[in-house]
Amino acid sequence: MAPHTEQLTRPAVRLSGLTRSFDGRTVLDGIDLDIPAGQFVALLGHSGSGKSTLLRAVAGLDHEVTGSGQLSAPERVSVVFQDSRLLPWRRVLPNVLLGLDGKDAEARGRAALAEVGLAGRERAWPNELSGGEAQRAALARSLVREPELLLADEPFGALDALTRIRMHTLLRELWEHHRPSVLLVTHDVDEAIVLADRVLVLEHGRIGVDLTVDRPHPRSYRDPLLGEYRERLLAALGVTEDIA
Ligand SMILES: Nc1ncnc2c1ncn2[C@@H]1O[C@H](COP(=O)(O)OP(=O)(O)OP(=O)(O)O)[C@@H](O)[C@H]1O
Ligand SMILES: [Mg+2]
Repeated sequence: MAPHTEQLTRPAVRLSGLTRSFDGRTVLDGIDLDIPAGQFVALLGHSGSGKSTLLRAVAGLDHEVTGSGQLSAPERVSVVFQDSRLLPWRRVLPNVLLGLDGKDAEARGRAALAEVGLAGRERAWPNELSGGEAQRAALARSLVREPELLLADEPFGALDALTRIRMHTLLRELWEHHRPSVLLVTHDVDEAIVLADRVLVLEHGRIGVDLTVDRPHPRSYRDPLLGEYRERLLAALGVTEDIA
């Protein structure tokens, strides 16, 4: 394959036989996964199934991934967690700029804050922000680094339902503008199918379901075709919607 073609088709993330055990207990059991550049992927799975472990491995935060696993990920990777992890002793803009230099850094930080709807809050302290605002600041901190890969571990899990829906719209808009590859860990089947173009379910240490969600954006939660995806995913997770 010509180098140019190879570059175009090379996945952003490639995992091959990725394995991770804790104290002899295997959590990730030879995971094979390619994520093409620019794809928006959601990862579902029961609590304890290994979603965060997988995300940490892809982020390069886990140096003890073992087995015959191979992992390749791009250089510019940003991670967003359930809590914003803003430093409480720094104002919002310096938090966004943390570790960033270059003379246009401040302008880029301000632009990123404006993109997430926080223009004017640059000098606020983290404890003056609501939960949703803090998560938006965390998104700005990620975006300002122009990541090729955005990893998010339940980034909206601690937010109320209404704020969460607003954050879904925002994240999708940001993705459309910047086009990073995304791996979003979530417990929420609706969040997965409304945002992602591909939904994975982690079970028994492997990718048990790999579903392409072929519906146009913006998506409505009321789209009956999304209901079919929801049912398939809930069934894979062993959940039935009827409450007896
Ligand atoms: N550092 C660690 N030491 C020992 N066991 C660990 C460690 N990190 C994770 N585990 C175990 O690995 C398994 C998977 O954990 P992980 O945090 O990846 O699950 P998860 O799918 O993200 O769950 P949740 O949805 O509750 O966040 C769990 O059984 C957990 O106890
Ligand atoms: Mg987790």
